[in-house]
Amino acid sequence: MNVDRTLWWDHDRDRLELIDQTLLPCRYESIAVPDVEALIEAIRVLRVRGAPALGAAGAYGVALAARTAGGDESLAYLAGVRRDAARIRSARPTAVNLAWGVDRALAAIGDARTPDGVRAATLAEAERIADEDAAMCRAIGTHGAALLPDPATVLTHCNAGALACVEWGTALGVVRSAVEAGKKVSVIACETRPLLQGARLSAFELRRDDIPVTVCPDSAAAHLMRSGGIDAVVVGADRICRDAVFNKIGTYAHAIAARYHGIPFYVAAPSSTLDFASRAAEIEIEERGRDEVASSFGVETVPPGVPVRNPAFDATPFALVTAVITERGVYSDPGELFGS
Ligand code: MRU
Repeated sequence: MNVDRTLWWDHDRDRLELIDQTLLPCRYESIAVPDVEALIEAIRVLRVRGAPALGAAGAYGVALAARTAGGDESLAYLAGVRRDAARIRSARPTAVNLAWGVDRALAAIGDARTPDGVRAATLAEAERIADEDAAMCRAIGTHGAALLPDPATVLTHCNAGALACVEWGTALGVVRSAVEAGKKVSVIACETRPLLQGARLSAFELRRDDIPVTVCPDSAAAHLMRSGGIDAVVVGADRICRDAVFNKIGTYAHAIAARYHGIPFYVAAPSSTLDFASRAAEIEIEERGRDEVASSFGVETVPPGVPVRNPAFDATPFALVTAVITERGVYSDPGELFGS
């Protein structure tokens, strides 16, 4: 299995480096991210994406801010770091991990007051978050793999794979761990309109690992469930509240279809995706630009002047979720998942 990281710190050049996911599946290349501006752009256009990867990116972003903020007088310097951190935090609103990663790196500043101290503390915390994410994905994989029959065909949506995390993946981590444990698993990857994370990214990384994968239009999922041969739906999450799971737009429809057809619907996510404070109704669902829906491959596909809706995520009520798989175990009851 490939164990490349999706993002990492380049210690020689003292800057972030990440796989530019907008180039996939044609090119697998990394780009340098030297400052906060470049990171915010990369997050907004989805060069780096997926909730756990955004958590690490947010923390590395604070380490970048600590390197580029001006002034050596400690209060002004720290205020600059915090200002940049707030801008990174709000680059995308729905995945809770982004804010979580930024906040953890900020908290790691502790009593450090000199720029050198702040640089060291924020980078050390970002590296810790990245390593923890890799370990959590392995543990999610082990717990989830046990739930899959052998052989199994798993339907997934968007990309909750290595590319959405630091490595290994959550939903696709479950698949990888099952394959590693000797199970015969194949994947149906829903293409995931409009940005095609399933077709471009999930298919790319599964193919690279020699795991059988077939791509289908999102609209084919219910039909395929009805036709038989899908043993489980496994998806990732951008935010898990006590009453709903937020994930890529289209997930909710798959959950409804899975319930109707008696197919288990699993959500695989690290505990950094849990939102202890909010109810689903309070969460902002990112609404992205018109062009993502109204043109394909440079050709207009919606008549000029016709409005478009482009919500990037939806909320699946817990009643439709068979279980949430975290690094700590498998939870079919949200009360147990949240420890209350
Ligand atoms: O808009 P994206 O590509 O960042 O959306 C990503 C998803 O919805 C993933 O399924 C989710 O972040 C889980 S990633 C392990």
